[in-house]
Amino acid sequence: MKITRSDLDKMPSRYRAGLMNTLSGYKPANLIGSFSESGVTNLAIFNSLIHMGSQPPLLGLLFRPLTVRRDTYANIKANGYFTVNAVSLSIYKEAHHTAAKFEEEESEFEKTGLTASYIGNFPAPFVEESPIKIGCSYQSEYPIKENGTILMLGAIEIVEINDSLLRTDGSLALDKEQVIATVGLDGYALPEIMDRLEYAQPGHKPNSMNHGTQKK
Ligand SMILES: Cc1cc2nc3c(=O)[nH]c(=O)nc-3n(C[C@H](O)[C@H](O)[C@H](O)COP(=O)(O)O)c2cc1C
Repeated sequence: MKITRSDLDKMPSRYRAGLMNTLSGYKPANLIGSFSESGVTNLAIFNSLIHMGSQPPLLGLLFRPLTVRRDTYANIKANGYFTVNAVSLSIYKEAHHTAAKFEEEESEFEKTGLTASYIGNFPAPFVEESPIKIGCSYQSEYPIKENGTILMLGAIEIVEINDSLLRTDGSLALDKEQVIATVGLDGYALPEIMDRLEYAQPGHKPNSMNHGTQKK
């Protein structure tokens, strides 16, 4: 099937959203934790997290247009801190549930049964059940003029990861803790790392890395 820009423009909006949300492929699933100004814990699933660079260590989050109440955005703007918690197989249903429109004073932790936990005095709630917990400070934001979304940048201040994930080269074996991926806004997938390849060089077909304990 071939789909042109004019076909896209003519599609019913839900159909187009379904197509566009899956067209760019699998995306990460993360729970964003924050505090409201009155101290209520908030949690929301986001699949738009982007690695924005390692030094300084930056993450990007894309927010939908601020046409309705967006607690996560408002909380981060008010407090300056948020957490990013990877979704694993054992909590994907609870994670999906956080997308429901709960009232501002209701905590998604309480409503979904996920557990709020704290690392030192970092001023935002983490998800106890998550194998990868990242604490970020708000840095800046960029309005996307084409559609009213907002790209927010956060700097990584603290990370807590389950030891089983960490490889000797610093990378994470995400499949060891069954970290899941999203497909659009309602599909959840369990990826498996099938290979790791050597650094790519011109004129040399990359080989599998298979040294030491790093099989995958
Ligand atoms: C799988 C999935 C991914 C989502 N990703 C995003 C996202 O990247 N950005 C966004 O603004 N909303 C996203 N949402 C919607 C939010 O989770 C939803 O609007 C939530 O109610 C926001 O909560 P808040 O008002 O507490 O911020 C996603 C929803 C689902 C189900």
